[in-house]
Amino acid sequence: MKVLVVGGAGYIGSHVSRELLDRGHEVTVYDNLSFGQRVNLFPEAGFVEADILDPGALSRCLAGGYRAIVHLAAFKAAGESMTSPEKYAANNIGGTIQVLNAASAAGVKHVVFSSSAAVYGEPQYLPIDEDHPLNPENFYGFTKLEIERILGWYDKLRGLRFAALRYFNAAGYDPAGRVLGRERNPANLLPIIMEVAAGTRPSLRIFGDDYPTPDGTGVRDYIHVTDLAVAHVEALEHILREDRSLTVNLGSETGLSVKEILEAARRITGQEIPSVTAGRRPGDPAKLVSSAERARKLLGWERRHSDLESLIATAWNVYRREAAP
Ligand code: UD1
Repeated sequence: MKVLVVGGAGYIGSHVSRELLDRGHEVTVYDNLSFGQRVNLFPEAGFVEADILDPGALSRCLAGGYRAIVHLAAFKAAGESMTSPEKYAANNIGGTIQVLNAASAAGVKHVVFSSSAAVYGEPQYLPIDEDHPLNPENFYGFTKLEIERILGWYDKLRGLRFAALRYFNAAGYDPAGRVLGRERNPANLLPIIMEVAAGTRPSLRIFGDDYPTPDGTGVRDYIHVTDLAVAHVEALEHILREDRSLTVNLGSETGLSVKEILEAARRITGQEIPSVTAGRRPGDPAKLVSSAERARKLLGWERRHSDLESLIATAWNVYRREAAP
């Protein structure tokens, strides 16, 4: 099947492209390389270097006749979205509307959309299932929720079938070592720990050790990016087969604390990984854990790589290349 992967040179997008290619699909990546990287492009895939805010480029590209779009292009730093909401509104909401309108004009009826657990906000109960109240705590989460709602209307009005995938914390790298792009200026825990282990960052700041969690540090649900990538393909197959849209959580259903991850990373990498305790980061809940039962039941989705060992070992396999000998 011919699939356009918008944002396909990014961290998650490159893994999704890899999975689609592995399953024999014809992939074109559409990316402006603002965060995406050339090193994440695969020779078997087509590539269009263009912006989602450029409707002409989108419609020229879609004239190529695609069966489906996987749309991952977005800004994702929740903290920055609170200080630069205009940037997030323009790109995440405005840009996605351009993608959807171009899809509509080109007659593309199937879209997989990267949503986020950030649509839920402060948890009212755990584990978080898809019926949890939607009350984003940051503007980033609001942009994702807004697009989910627009997708709902395009489904009703245009027969667009979508899969909204609410990611928890994506981590790890392709276990076969085929994705090598390290994120630039990461804000997330795992890549920061990897940079410290590789010696390109002096230390990890632990954002709060006084949370009501067993060791006082924040607990999150880390899902391996290859398990996420597989879910994209399964979700796409599902909406094509069932002719029905879908909204699902994608998580490991397991909580891991900052300290648990740090200690495992020290053990697996054999590096010291210095850390300092800093104050809490505003907007960080103590604990987030998913229920991914819906994805397991509807998609038959199984996680294969989301254990702590694989999350860290596959990432270290990429970051160790930078480590001093
Ligand atoms: C964040 C966003 C989420 C977004 C996701 C992907 C918030 C509340 N959530 O998730 O909406 O989809 O990123 O980009 O902003 N930590 C440290 N030191 C660090 C970095 C992180 O201790 O240098 C801790 C955090 O306090 C948290 C955990 O590590 O407990 C995970 O943080 P992070 O990787 O930033 O992800 P989230 O904040 O869960």
